[in-house]
Amino acid sequence: MRLTYTSDVWWKNAVVYCLDVETFKDGNGDGVGDFRGLTQQIDYLAGLGVTCLWLMPFFPTPNKDDGYDITDFYSVDPRLGTLGDFVEFMRTAHDRGLRVIADLVVNHTSDQHPWFVEARSSRDSAHRDWYVWSDKPEPDNPEQIVFPDKETSVWEYDEGSGQYYLHSFYRHQPDLNVGNPEVRDEITRILGFWMELGLSGFRVDAVPFLIENVNPRLANPHEFLADLRAFMTRRKGGSILLGEVNVPYKDLIGYFGDGLGDQITMCFDFIGMQNAWLSMARSDATPLVNALRERPRPPKDCQWAMFLRNHDELTLDKLTEEEREEVFRAFGPRKEMQIFGRGLRRRLPTMLGGDLRRVKMAYSLLFSLPGTPVIFYGEEIGMGENLEEEGRMAVRVPMQWSEDGGFSQAEPVREIPAGSFAPDRVNVADQKRDTSSLLRWFQLLIERYRECPELAWGTYTVLETGHPAVLAHRCDADGATVVVAHNLCDTAQDVELRLDGLERCLLTDLLVDGTLKVSEQGVARLPLDPHGCRWLRASPPEIPPEDASVKSL
Ligand code: BGC
Repeated sequence: MRLTYTSDVWWKNAVVYCLDVETFKDGNGDGVGDFRGLTQQIDYLAGLGVTCLWLMPFFPTPNKDDGYDITDFYSVDPRLGTLGDFVEFMRTAHDRGLRVIADLVVNHTSDQHPWFVEARSSRDSAHRDWYVWSDKPEPDNPEQIVFPDKETSVWEYDEGSGQYYLHSFYRHQPDLNVGNPEVRDEITRILGFWMELGLSGFRVDAVPFLIENVNPRLANPHEFLADLRAFMTRRKGGSILLGEVNVPYKDLIGYFGDGLGDQITMCFDFIGMQNAWLSMARSDATPLVNALRERPRPPKDCQWAMFLRNHDELTLDKLTEEEREEVFRAFGPRKEMQIFGRGLRRRLPTMLGGDLRRVKMAYSLLFSLPGTPVIFYGEEIGMGENLEEEGRMAVRVPMQWSEDGGFSQAEPVREIPAGSFAPDRVNVADQKRDTSSLLRWFQLLIERYRECPELAWGTYTVLETGHPAVLAHRCDADGATVVVAHNLCDTAQDVELRLDGLERCLLTDLLVDGTLKVSEQGVARLPLDPHGCRWLRASPPEIPPEDASVKSL
C-alpha cells in the first residue's frame, strides 16, 4: 500500500459529507442557505475532518422535489447564489483540502425544463425524442411506483401532443431518454462543464432507472455508464461516480464494471444499511453479519459507500414484510414516522431514543464497516427530524449552529425542530465546548478511520463472537491489523475472539486508553460495555503500539 497510490484512489478511505446548500447556512440574510454561507463554514467542515463534500442539487428548479427537478443543468439556483459564488466556494474548499462532488440528476428533468416544454409542444419538435413517449403504455406494475403516496402510474397523458410520457418518479419529472445519442452527449457535456469548474465527481441519482427506462432500449445499458466513466477519466484522472443503485447484490456488482470497463466507482450499500438497522432493532448482529458475508467484493479501485441515514427516507425495501415491521416497531412505530409503506422519515438519534451511548456505537459501527463512510449534515451533532414538514422534508431541516439556531438572521426556509432536538439542546457551538459531545466523537472516529486504512482497504473477516449481540471483525492490510467489536445490546458482554496470526500480540485501544493481550493460543478476551465499541490495533509484542500502524503511511 504505497502512499502515492492511496492518494490516487482517494475515495477508498474518504469521509463523504452530504449537504444541501439551501439548509446549511444563510450568508445573505434572506432565510435561504446559499454558497456564501456554505463558504463561511468550510473551516468547520475541514475541522470536522471530512474529506469530500457531496452537494445535493443546487441548480435552477421549480423545487417541487427539493431540487431533484432541474430546469437548467448549467447554472446555479439564484436563491443559492451565482456561478461566481460557486467558484469562490470551490476555491475555498480546495484550499482547505476538501474535494467536492455534486448530485447528477439526469434520469429526468423538471417538466418546466425548456427541453421538455419544447418536446411536448409537438410530435415533430427537435427535443421530442429526448423523452420517452408511448401511444399505449404497458399496464403499470405497482412495484415500479416509487412515490405511491402521490402517483398511481409511471405514465402521464400529455393532452397537447396526444401521447403518454414516462416519469419514473413524480409526474412533473419526465424521464430523459438516454437511448437517444444526443441526450447521452448532452449528459457528458454537463459532466464536463462542472468538472471544469473543479468537481471531483458526481453522486448519480437513480442509476438503474437512468439506463433502463429508455427508448429504444440500449443494446447494453451499462455501456453508457462505462462511456461516462471513461470520459471523466480522460478529463480528470481520479474523478468518481458515486451511484445510487438500490438493487440486490447479485445485480449490483455489474454496476461497478464488467467486461466493458469501469463504471460506477462507489455504490451505496443499501442492503448492508438495511440489515444494520434490522440488527440494531433486534440487538442481534446476525442480519448484518449475513449481509457482510454475502456482499460481493468490488473490483479493484471500486468501493462500497457505507451509510446509516441519508437525505431520503430510511428505505427498508429490501427487508421482508415482517423484518420491516420489526424495524418500524423499534424505530418508528407511529404512522406519521413512516412513509411510502417502506421507510421511515426520521433521523438516527431520534430513532435511537436520543440514547447517546447507542448513537455513538451506531456511528462507530458506520465508520468501521469496510467501505467509505457517507454522512448527512447534522448527523455529527445528532440533529433530529421535524415531522411537521411534509414527507421526506422532515429530515432536511436547517443546520443547527447555535442555541438560537444560527442558520439565518431571517425566518428560515424550513421550520426548525422543536422539543428535545431543538437548537437550544443540539447545536454545533455547545458541542465544540463539550469534550464528551457527539461532535467530538465524530472527530475522533474520523481521525481514527483515516489513520486505519485497513478498514477501507484491507481484507475483512467477520469473527465468531459466541454472542449474537456482538459484531466483531478484523481488517488486514500490508501486515497490519485492526480488530473492531460492537455490542448491539444494552447489557455488558465479554467475548472471546480467535485471532489467528496475532498470537501474543498487543491490542491497543484506539478510542479510549487501554491495551489487551492476545494469548499464546491466539485468543483475546474482550469486555464490552452496554452498547460498547472498541477499535484495537494489533502490534507484535516487541514493537511499541504507536509504531505499529500501516508502515508506509
Ligand atoms: C433521490 C430523491 C429524489 C429522486 C428523484 C432519488 O433517488 O435521492 O431524493 O426524489 O431520486 O430524483
